Amino acid sequence: MEARKTVLVTGGAGFIGSHLCIQLVQKYPDYHIINLDNLTYAGNLENLKPIEKAKNYTFIKGDIANAGEVDQLFDKYEVDGVIHLAAESHVDRSIDSPNEFALTNVIGTLNLLNAAKKSWEGKFDQKMFYHVSTDEVYGSLGDTGLFREDTPYDPRSPYSASKASSDHFVRAFYHTYGFPILISNCSNNYGPLQFPEKLIPLVINNILHRKPLPVYGDGTNVRDWLYVLDHVSAMDVILHKGKTGETYNIGGNNEMKNIDLVELLCDICDDELGRPVGDSRKRITFVKDRPGHDKRYAIDAGKIKRELGWEPQTTAELGFKNTVKWYLDNQEWLKRVTSGAYQDYYKKFYGQN
Ligand code: NAD
Ligand code: DAU
Repeated sequence: MEARKTVLVTGGAGFIGSHLCIQLVQKYPDYHIINLDNLTYAGNLENLKPIEKAKNYTFIKGDIANAGEVDQLFDKYEVDGVIHLAAESHVDRSIDSPNEFALTNVIGTLNLLNAAKKSWEGKFDQKMFYHVSTDEVYGSLGDTGLFREDTPYDPRSPYSASKASSDHFVRAFYHTYGFPILISNCSNNYGPLQFPEKLIPLVINNILHRKPLPVYGDGTNVRDWLYVLDHVSAMDVILHKGKTGETYNIGGNNEMKNIDLVELLCDICDDELGRPVGDSRKRITFVKDRPGHDKRYAIDAGKIKRELGWEPQTTAELGFKNTVKWYLDNQEWLKRVTSGAYQDYYKKFYGQN
């Protein structure tokens, strides 16, 4: 992407989106960053404090599933680039209520594509629609193998099915209309500001409160963990250097079994909290498995390294330590996001408060 003036980030009040907005606003003072977010349970304006008063930043509360609201935004602003992250993002919630995922992730994406296409007619060569997706669209790996950009899609949860569908629509716009797109498919992110429904912040929060640490099934499922700021730097590189129409896989080269990760978090937390060695591990509890639980995700991130020169910079040791420290230093943040509706969520999904 050339030096563009107005970049629309969707979902910028969520975990990854807030890190992305902060980075773009601070690194590119010449850009106007518009953050469109509906502030669902996962959106939190508190995450955006460092930039809330910045001159080159505008927050707009709006629903991507509402075509009228999306059209209005494109009528009001001459948007040059879109980085589309807004989504329902939690697999367990998708198992409970799949329709919400179709509405936001599929229809919401289509609304953005339609609005951008209409607004950008005749100027596609100066525009870019960058769709942020997930490695879960590729399905589940056995003990060996890696997801590549040409791995056939095989989504297996309602969440990954909705993300796969949105990826297909984005590619369809490229092939059918010559609409300018980029897609990236990224592995599991971790770091500060992640809502504690996801494994890492949930476990840290439970360790703090000496609550059971729920591990699904036998704990041998594998994920490839990437520090969120590395994902942000990859998105920056893709937006500016990515080749129109291409897909890039992003990963952390950091595969871990869930049980090993939870034990590591226990040990780092105990150390930081001055608790006896092994104290938190005693609260690890194997619980009923997630239905259709994908066994293993692992990314071949060779293409983005070869073609765009990106690779992750944060070691697992540093990333996990920083992350634990952030949650321990920001217990008030944790308290605020886990009060109210989170209590009902936790009870519904884990059977206790
Ligand atoms: P998140 O759940 O933390 O944030 C999602 C944001 O989208 C929230 O701020 C929410 O308010 C907003 N949103 C939801 N529905 C909306 C709607 N209808 N209109 C406008 N805004 C809406 O998610 P995240 O973990 O930051 O993930 C962001 C994106 O990255 C998602 O598209 C996800 O699929 C993708 N992704 C996430 C990961 C990960 O590990 N978290 C990995 C790969 C890809
Ligand atoms: O791979 C990228 C995806 O990573 C993103 O597209 C999703 O938006 C993001 O939520 C994440 O999906 P996962 O399902 O892998 O993340 P989650 O943190 O929910 O779970 C990680 C692993 O830990 C998974 O194997 C399920 C397991 N787990 C999770 C929770 C919440 C547990 O064992 N116990 C738990 O309580």
